[in-house]
Amino acid sequence: MYSEEIDKRKTFGIISHPDAGKTTLTEKLLLFGGAIQTAGAVKSNKIKKTAASDFMEIERQRGISVATSVMSFEYHDHLINLLDTPGHKDFAEDTYRTLTAVDSVILVIDSVNGVEEQTKRLVEVCRMRDTPIIVFVNKLDLEGRDPFDLLDEVEESLGIRVKPLSWPINRGKSFKGVYNLHNHTLNLFEANKTKVSKEIISISDLNQPQLDTLIGKDADQLREDVELVEGVYESFDKAAYLKGQLAPVFFGSAVNNFGVKELLDTFVEIAPTPLPRVSTKGPIDPYDKKFSGFIFKIHANLDPNHRDRIAFLRICSGKFERNKFVHHSRLNKDIRFNNPYSFLAREKNLIDEAFPGDVIGLYDTGSFKIGDTLTDGETFEFQGIPSFSPEIFREVINTDPMKSKQLEKGVRQLTDEGVAQFFVQQPGNKKIIGTVGELQFEVIRYRLLNEYGASCNLVHKNFHKACWITTKNQEMLDDFMRIKASEVALDKDDNPVFLAPSAWMLQMAQENYPDLTFHFTSEFKTMDSTK
Ligand code: G4P
Repeated sequence: MYSEEIDKRKTFGIISHPDAGKTTLTEKLLLFGGAIQTAGAVKSNKIKKTAASDFMEIERQRGISVATSVMSFEYHDHLINLLDTPGHKDFAEDTYRTLTAVDSVILVIDSVNGVEEQTKRLVEVCRMRDTPIIVFVNKLDLEGRDPFDLLDEVEESLGIRVKPLSWPINRGKSFKGVYNLHNHTLNLFEANKTKVSKEIISISDLNQPQLDTLIGKDADQLREDVELVEGVYESFDKAAYLKGQLAPVFFGSAVNNFGVKELLDTFVEIAPTPLPRVSTKGPIDPYDKKFSGFIFKIHANLDPNHRDRIAFLRICSGKFERNKFVHHSRLNKDIRFNNPYSFLAREKNLIDEAFPGDVIGLYDTGSFKIGDTLTDGETFEFQGIPSFSPEIFREVINTDPMKSKQLEKGVRQLTDEGVAQFFVQQPGNKKIIGTVGELQFEVIRYRLLNEYGASCNLVHKNFHKACWITTKNQEMLDDFMRIKASEVALDKDDNPVFLAPSAWMLQMAQENYPDLTFHFTSEFKTMDSTK
């Protein structure tokens, strides 16, 4: 019974460079799952490019993103949890952390633009933990690139082998449809933004004259392409997919709801059920009956009169039960929740129990930090919920001496939520905030004022990167800390950090202090990242 609950769950995320079609695909998947009835329901879930400095837009986005953080729906006998990943690059870190809570991803690539900058970074993060990837090449209704070229680009620039499971017949204005190489069926294209079912024609042998009747002169090209595809690409190896080494590829047009059903059907067939997670006491198996989970996202409540927040918990093993005490590992304290909720059919529902693979929302009054572990009593921590080395820095200067306590509290709480990273520099107890995007500073200033009543100036600091330092040579570290006093700081957990003024200075430090290791993600405790 318990294992059946686990086996029916698939928890995944959709990733893409902005504008490739993530939101559109999400919406179509929800249509199939019956979680929404009309197209357009998820559409507003993104910051339009023009609104990058608009406070109201940020607030609106925050409101929407609570509702779309997790979208659960049933499809056939599966329970699918789709975790939202913000598309805006300034919120990339939020996306990276969300990827720690999924078991697989669907990567959307725009057939016109191919592999883009954000695609590469996101796939890099997936590859850090060998997350299985299915690729959806979107916008076949536009005059996009040659599919063979696109696949070559994916293999070369993303460093992953591909295997097309469907093949497009022409593209742009003459796009006719896709041939499913897996089950030998032909799906003819018909632009349609809302319909969810269509006729699929079975063609077991491509030499059948029926193919010529159906697609005319494109039939020969398809025969040629398929022969080439079968010659070039090895047959689909599910084990290699599950190890994150081979990505099956589908072609389609999300906005026209074309190729989406094939994608979803294959997804539920091959995508992994909840996988084990690494912890300080070794891998935690989902079938282990003792409850455990971790917080990967914290979201402030929109109502400024209520300082409570919503912490998102990914359940890794055992059963979570409402009102039952669980152990907060970092604080070494037992807590319980009387109103945890899930997000079935995009509605917040109070839940009584939840299983591995599920993501639930917990009301929090400030006891959680990103990465916190909850267990059934044991003390251990899940690993691999990284912070990335920030690249933009501001010093926080208090402009209202009466509110310094509020400012301190606000900065600490916002950085607990993962909006930014917080460093303290001595002498003078200077507070430095580091982010990966400019937009976060606007969010921080706005929220400090509105939620904590604290006003501040954020003064630009000219650092290039913050790198965590580890070493076995304490003497060399002490030396470094003394000589570079104006360029070192401590993070929130008192780990030493080098605020490198330039790439060159960083390189010099690496050469001059060979026993120090400079890390670019906070995951240095569990993995070696000295890139
Ligand atoms: P994102 O979440 O990855 O940022 O992308 P989103 O789904 O918002 O899609 C970006 C744009 O691409 C949207 O157009 C969307 O309609 C369009 N799009 C998505 N799939 C397809 C497709 O298969 N073919 C074509 N031709 N376009 C597609 P927009 O103009 O930004 O928004 P809208 O005004 O159409 O809503």
